[in-house]
Amino acid sequence: MRHVLNAKQFTKKELEELFLLTDDIKNNPKKYSNKLDGKIIAVMFYEPSTRTRMSFQTAILKLGGKFVGTENAFDNSSGKKGETLEDTIRVLQGYADAIVIRHPSDNMPQRVASVATVPIINAGSGKGEHPTQALLDLYTIREYKKRLNNLKIAILGDLSNGRTIHSLLGLISNYDNIEIYGLSKKVFELPQEYIDMLNSKGIEYKKCNCFDDIPKDVDIMYHSRIQSERFEGDFGKEEYIINKEVLSKFSPETIVLHPLPRNEEICPDIDDDPRAVYFKQANNGLYVRMGLFVQAFEN
Ligand code: NCD
Repeated sequence: MRHVLNAKQFTKKELEELFLLTDDIKNNPKKYSNKLDGKIIAVMFYEPSTRTRMSFQTAILKLGGKFVGTENAFDNSSGKKGETLEDTIRVLQGYADAIVIRHPSDNMPQRVASVATVPIINAGSGKGEHPTQALLDLYTIREYKKRLNNLKIAILGDLSNGRTIHSLLGLISNYDNIEIYGLSKKVFELPQEYIDMLNSKGIEYKKCNCFDDIPKDVDIMYHSRIQSERFEGDFGKEEYIINKEVLSKFSPETIVLHPLPRNEEICPDIDDDPRAVYFKQANNGLYVRMGLFVQAFEN
C-alpha cells in the first residue's frame, strides 16, 4: 500500500520512477486505460478546487476506474453532523479502494494515515503540504529544463501560507546544486522551518527585496497567489507582479510556473510568451496523477 502524504517521503529514485512512468502514460495513454478496472476511488474535498479535483477525477476515468465522493465536503458530508475526519475515513475505506482528500488542517495526513487501510492521497492539507502539485511542478521543471540538478529557482508570492511551495521545496531539496531565491511581501516570507530544512540539505536560501535581486539567468520563477483564506485581516495585494516588462529583463530560458489559480501576480500580457508554462503545468497534473494511481495499486 502506498500513501502519498508529503514531499519528504519521496526519494530521488522514486521520483525518477514516477516521472518515467508519467512520460510513458503521456505518450501511450491507451496502454493504461484498464489499470483501474474494477476500482472505486473516494474523492473528498473539504476546500474549493478546480484543477486538483477534476484532474484526479479525470485520471481515474482515463485509467478505467470509477469515483465516488463530494466537493464542499464540510456541507455535503457527515462532517456537518460532527463526524471526525478519522471516522469518515474508517467508513469510506469500506467502500473505496483508495481515498483522495483535501482538507484545511495541516495535520490531516497524519490523522488519516493513523486509521487508513487503503492508499490515501493528500490533495492539499492546510498551509502545510500539497505533494501531488509539487510532483507535477517538478515533472514540468524536468520536462522544460531536462534536468533537476543545477537549478536556480525563484519562489514568489505567499511563501508563508503557500502549501505548493512548501512541498516543492521538500522535493527539490533531493537534488544537487540548487539555489533558491525568495521574493515576497514581508508578511508572506518563507517560515524559518523551511529555510532550516533547505540549509540542512546544503541549500542556501537567498531572500530578495526586489526583482533585481533575482539573477537574470534564473531557471524558474514560481509565483503563487496570496492565500487570503488562510489568515485574518487584509494585507493588501501582491506587490511583485510578473508582467511583460519584468519578464523582458530575464533570460529567454527562464520559465514561469504557477500552481494556479492566479490573481494579479501574473499579468495575462505574458500568457503568449513561450516562457509562461503554467497552463501546460496544470495539464501535466493529469498525467502525474494517473502515474500515482498506477503506482498505488502496483505493490
Ligand atoms: C493551489 C492550492 O490549492 O494550494 N491550487 C492548486 O491545487 N493548483 C494553489 C492555490 O490555491 O493558490
